[in-house]
Amino acid sequence: MTAARMPIESAVNFFGDKHPLTNEQSEFWSKIAANYDRVVDLQIGRNTRSLVRERLGKEKELGNVAEFGCGTGYYTEVLAGKAAAVIATDLSLGMLDIAKKCVTAANLSFQMENCQSTSLAAATFDTAFISLVLHFAEPEKTLAEMHRILKPGGALIIANLDFHALRGIDRLRAATRVLYRGATGYRLKPPKRFISKMLTERQLGDLLNRSGFTLISSEVIKDPSSSSNIPIDYIKAMKA
Ligand SMILES: C[S@@+](CC[C@H](N)C(=O)[O-])C[C@H]1O[C@@H](n2cnc3c(N)ncnc32)[C@H](O)[C@@H]1O
Repeated sequence: MTAARMPIESAVNFFGDKHPLTNEQSEFWSKIAANYDRVVDLQIGRNTRSLVRERLGKEKELGNVAEFGCGTGYYTEVLAGKAAAVIATDLSLGMLDIAKKCVTAANLSFQMENCQSTSLAAATFDTAFISLVLHFAEPEKTLAEMHRILKPGGALIIANLDFHALRGIDRLRAATRVLYRGATGYRLKPPKRFISKMLTERQLGDLLNRSGFTLISSEVIKDPSSSSNIPIDYIKAMKA
């Protein structure tokens, strides 16, 4: 039985005892999956993800695509419309279950994977996409994994939550909103060390260089309705 077909109780142990944190994370995301889309938009800015999705829709043909941390499939349909084929992956079965119901396309399959170390074949994908996931995983390992699965010259598209781009009162407001909306919307305590590292645009650019990517472009996308909405860096890079 593949992990994606396992019942949820078995799947929480999919990563084995050596990865208790990953199991905890997977369990957390599955439990909050049904509320995720509503809550995340209240946390970061009502239109932020839809602006990112609009931007993604402007990409040309993407070829064979791997999506890391697809969540409920918010971006997956757009990817499928631009791709020859998409494998959308996530750590959480609860998220994958919702994504499978929300997004159906003939060229799309879903798979349970840890983005830091997947079972995807090396050098087989033209495009790898990841949105709002890097800060929940180890960014170095995740970028190394994306590098491994991409063909030489393959494209990487990252939507990176850039909390540190906010300053002063806006940063304070954003932090308070994220905590308050998370606590009231999910009513579930996140696992310890839930957020690994939040990278600034510059830190991510440096890490991409060190990980064997050439930075192509970096755009800041922000919902203008409030100065404390959290910006997203829409970053494109190429496997060098
Ligand atoms: C904030 S949500 C982002 C979902 C979607 N990409 C979006 O932008 O709305 C983070 C997603 O990453 C998944 N995730 C967290 N850690 C992961 C890991 N190590 N490997 C794969 N997926 C992971 C979670 O299950 C969750 O679906």
